[in-house]
Amino acid sequence: MEKTICELFAGVGGFRLGFEKLNSGWETTWFSQWEPGAKTQWAHECYVSHFGDSKDLKGEFHTGEDISLMEKKHIPNHNLLVGGFPCQDYSVAHTLASSKGIEGKKGVLWWQIRDTIIAKEPSFCIFENVDRLLKSPASQRGRDFGIILACLAELNYSAEWRVVNAATYGASQRRRRTFIFAYKNSSNYGRKMGNTMPDKLIMSEGFMAKSFPIVAMDEMTSIELSKDIIDVSDNFSFPFKNAGYMTNSVVYTFNITEKEEQPILLKEILQSDVDKDFYISEEKMPKWVYLKGAKKIPRKSANGHEYIFSEGPVAFPDSWDRPGRTMLTSESTLNRSTHVVTDPGSGKLRILTPVEAERMQGFDDDWTNSGMPQRMRFFCMGNALVVPMVTRMGKVLDGIFAEEG
Ligand SMILES: C[S@@+](CC[C@H](N)C(=O)[O-])C[C@H]1O[C@@H](n2cnc3c(N)ncnc32)[C@H](O)[C@@H]1O
Repeated sequence: MEKTICELFAGVGGFRLGFEKLNSGWETTWFSQWEPGAKTQWAHECYVSHFGDSKDLKGEFHTGEDISLMEKKHIPNHNLLVGGFPCQDYSVAHTLASSKGIEGKKGVLWWQIRDTIIAKEPSFCIFENVDRLLKSPASQRGRDFGIILACLAELNYSAEWRVVNAATYGASQRRRRTFIFAYKNSSNYGRKMGNTMPDKLIMSEGFMAKSFPIVAMDEMTSIELSKDIIDVSDNFSFPFKNAGYMTNSVVYTFNITEKEEQPILLKEILQSDVDKDFYISEEKMPKWVYLKGAKKIPRKSANGHEYIFSEGPVAFPDSWDRPGRTMLTSESTLNRSTHVVTDPGSGKLRILTPVEAERMQGFDDDWTNSGMPQRMRFFCMGNALVVPMVTRMGKVLDGIFAEEG
């Protein structure tokens, strides 16, 4: 099977870079990256500066446009569809017919992925989302992930998922993300897994177990999804655990314990002799101390209800001897979640440099040094994924693709 990839919601190309690092013949035939509302498309420009642009099947360039405007049948053929997409409200309405008779909310990117699967029928897919996807929305826990699985089942795909903490698998960031691996039931891999017991698949035989080994799992819980996606949207709720498998609309889920590898520590990615602009000024210090500290603040909700908002302290500065926390798009701004480190040379407190942010995500140094403002470099890194996690999955896919013939 040709190792061809389509990368949706490509950002600065974390998936593509992760596969290219394998040097095992992966070729990205098309990608899409468009930041809603942004005048300058920095991420798209950065992506193109590394990999060049890609034509669609009509010979036109549409990679830097809203994916919802793209006629999906014009996307070049590929056997692997990848993409990191946001956790949104995936509920569907009863009205109107889309390609398969359901209507999701406008602007919800899962429907763009589904339309691409319907048009291009890739044999394999890897998606990335935040860990809370499995529990969303708060009012109907598990509904949104249930809808994703029900859509995949309807299109004759099975799926495995795992919540992966990148630091456990050797990275320099405690970033927890849900990875979903979907595959056609008719693929060789699909047939093989169809003959494998769910507990064995999760423990050792499946794609996720091979990419991210585990040491233990709890008792399985299981549920059958309705074949009617509107019914799932209206009524489904289920406590998904951090690992699982869905085939023929039946969900099997387990809480697993990850097999720990030595992470990269924050001190190992710090640069020396950084510009003085990264240092925290005396003037701003009290604000940083306040934001990072514990607090209890009386607040009033929209309906007039008074309550005490409270939050504990965060490490200030961040420990050198641990991997970093999850990097957000607000990284580097005066913000509680921005990393603050003790500079190894001067012993003074400072924020991270863009290169340190890139290292924390496993990108090459200066990956985003493509002409975008510094603030956008942090923004793009906050949006990105931990590249070595993709490379690990790619290695396992090398074997799976070899067996597809
Ligand atoms: C979570 S990020 C994925 C980042 C990527 N994995 C990386 O390594 O940089 C999602 C991306 O989807 C893009 N996006 C959002 N809406 C889009 C749309 N309608 N069409 C195309 N891209 C979109 C965002 O600009 C963002 O870069």
